[in-house]
Amino acid sequence: MADAPKRTILVTGGAGFIGSNFVRFILKRVQDVRVVNLDALTYSGNLANLSDVLSVPRHTFVKGSINDAHLIADLIDAHAVEGIINFAAESHVDRSIDSPAIFVETNVAGTQALLAAAHEARVSRFVQISTDEVYGSLGPEGMFREDTPVQPNSPYSASKAAADHFVHAYRHTYGLNTIVTRCSNNYGPYQFPEKMIPLMIHNALTGKPLPVYGDGLHVRDWLYVADHCRAVWEVYEKGTAGNVYNIGGNNEHTNLDVVRTILRCLNKPESLIQFVKDRPGHDRRYAIDASRIRRDIGWEPSIDFETGIKRTVEWYCEHREWLQTIVSGDYQKYYDRMYSGREMTA
Ligand code: NAD
Ligand code: DAU
Repeated sequence: MADAPKRTILVTGGAGFIGSNFVRFILKRVQDVRVVNLDALTYSGNLANLSDVLSVPRHTFVKGSINDAHLIADLIDAHAVEGIINFAAESHVDRSIDSPAIFVETNVAGTQALLAAAHEARVSRFVQISTDEVYGSLGPEGMFREDTPVQPNSPYSASKAAADHFVHAYRHTYGLNTIVTRCSNNYGPYQFPEKMIPLMIHNALTGKPLPVYGDGLHVRDWLYVADHCRAVWEVYEKGTAGNVYNIGGNNEHTNLDVVRTILRCLNKPESLIQFVKDRPGHDRRYAIDASRIRRDIGWEPSIDFETGIKRTVEWYCEHREWLQTIVSGDYQKYYDRMYSGREMTA
């Protein structure tokens, strides 16, 4: 019989895209850990993302907010929480341009509330899931390193950078054991179809135009979500307190490249591509130098883009019901607000 779990971590945002993949990773791969999963179930949080692990005894799901200081204190106390990994956030850049205030509420005030509770209860580790977007935008050359100055451009990245500053302040002022991770763009199963890759897969599957912003030559550095989850856990276990760790797979592609790859995987014509008005303030290029995590922790990505994108497209094809449930709700209103009348004429 397997040993009883020896320690408990509080994972926030564990019903979202990366959080649900992370919870599944822990339950499958790390036998001595119990997970308390706190998620407010906003539009992007979905219990269907956890359907296969909801009844696992080492997993306790709690619906609630990281802004709720009393709830967090009670959870830490009741479950003797060893450490916290904060995935909870408003995560979509376009929504942050449309409605920035909730990004301050969740990403800044929510992170601060969680830090305060962690400090009060003297938890032994706090990992903040940040993003490479806090570094701003690159020209054609160079990569983001951990010592690259933070220069966020969108309301989303500004809120994430502000949260990172709060994490640093809790380390510096109160001695909380903190780590910040900054990962590049993730893709894989359970990603909400407002993000580029699942949005393009969904539109291609339903014969709708694929809306490429601007000239489509913006570059993102893609990492398969399972590789990100493993990196976060290795950093939680082996990282040095106070450090920032970049996470990325040296896998840069233009958006147009990615969209064409998706169309090829689905055997759909390139005529579905439609260039639309650009995202305001659109960052041109992201590229992550992940040498610190490779050198100090020994983490490396294991899934190349060709394999990962094929697996992702197959997953969405096999989970039409999951996709359909999402797009049949408020999603259509969101899509119309963001995309109608945005087409560019030649
Ligand atoms: P997501 O939008 O899919 O999930 C966010 C989750 O947070 C949802 O389940 C939502 O219900 C929950 N949430 C929102 N507000 C909450 C609150 N107040 N209290 C508790 N839960 C709340 O986002 P994602 O893409 O999985 O991103 C997860 C984290 O990773 C975010 O912090 C994001 O900034 C970061 N990140 C994402 C990427 C990416 O490519 N998706 C890359 C780097 C970093
Ligand atoms: O870099 C990490 C970040 O990656 C995370 O911190 C964010 O949470 C995550 O949303 C993601 O941000 P991006 O803005 O890079 O991802 P998104 O999927 O929204 O867009 C990827 C690229 O595709 C970007 O250059 C904009 C473009 N795009 C996006 C959409 C939704 C399009 O051309 N058309 C679209 O319809």
